[in-house]
Amino acid sequence: MKVLVTGGAGFIGSAILPKLKEAGYEVAVIDNLSFGKREFIDVPDERFFKLDIRNREMVDKVITDFKPEILVHLAAIHFIPYCNQHPFEASDINIRGTMNVLDACSSVGSLKKVFFASTAAVYPIADLAVSENHKLEPLDIYGLSKLVGERLFREFFLKTKVDTIVCRFFNAFGPNETNAHLIPEIEKQIKSGLRTIRLGNLTPKRDFIHTYDMANAVLKLIQLKNIGYDTFNLGRGIEYSVTEIVEAFERQLGEKIFIEVDEARVRKVERMHLLADVSKLKSKTGWEPEWGIDEGIMNLLEN
Ligand SMILES: NC(=O)c1ccc[n+]([C@@H]2O[C@H](COP(=O)([O-])OP(=O)(O)OC[C@H]3O[C@@H](n4cnc5c(N)ncnc54)[C@H](O)[C@@H]3O)[C@@H](O)[C@H]2O)c1
Repeated sequence: MKVLVTGGAGFIGSAILPKLKEAGYEVAVIDNLSFGKREFIDVPDERFFKLDIRNREMVDKVITDFKPEILVHLAAIHFIPYCNQHPFEASDINIRGTMNVLDACSSVGSLKKVFFASTAAVYPIADLAVSENHKLEPLDIYGLSKLVGERLFREFFLKTKVDTIVCRFFNAFGPNETNAHLIPEIEKQIKSGLRTIRLGNLTPKRDFIHTYDMANAVLKLIQLKNIGYDTFNLGRGIEYSVTEIVEAFERQLGEKIFIEVDEARVRKVERMHLLADVSKLKSKTGWEPEWGIDEGIMNLLEN
């Protein structure tokens, strides 16, 4: 089967692609390499399209020529501080770009399934684990643009009846990070030899999921049959504070790490918790995460 992955040269895309290939799919990628890297992925040049998803004509051409059976739509601007600083660019890519991709897809008869990478940022602040039917109330332009993306996919499903999966990713970690998230920031400071590191808020907790586990879940989701339109959370189901993540680095290094709070990094609006209820994903696909925080951090430090 042919799979088109937009944003496939990015952080999460680079973990999903090998899984798709291993499972026998023929993969093509559209990515403008604004954040992703060509060397992250092993896709032949004839199936790699360096292209902005806002370029409607070229998106149409690639989709009409390749005739995907499955679309995995990852291309987006997603680093929240970047989105806040560039709200017009972020909404243009995340909304207009998504409309272009879906519009081009609606006219290819080959399409059997579409998958949209949404985000936990569509949920409001909540102290407990959120399930898929929790109310939706994004706090920022990024979450808002992704919620619009979800609605666009729903409209696409209503129009085409092509099976549609909306998957709300929680906090990814693993190799090939493209943005200055917490774990790569700690990794960078530690690998530069520092043992006193500078971070923002220390108490917020996040549900960190390894990209290899995410890739397995995405594969299982696109292999589900007769989905109609459905939404799934994708997280580990465990939350860790910033301090607990630093402690996991200490365990792997066998050394003490001191933290200094850098006021410039402290976010003005901060969620204290972001935890996924992943029971629906587990029960519908049989997926189970395999990577714990310690193994994931060890893997980062070794590479
Ligand atoms: N990383 C996370 O923790 C996380 C959490 C929730 C949701 N997500 C979602 O998962 C998806 C993948 O995120 P990621 O972490 O791999 O980020 P990423 O930035 O590494 O990947 C996005 C890819 O899209 C490409 N891209 C950006 N704008 C484009 C455009 N206009 N045209 C074509 N390509 C473009 C980038 O070059 C990049 O390769 C995104 O949709 C993101 O919103 C990620």
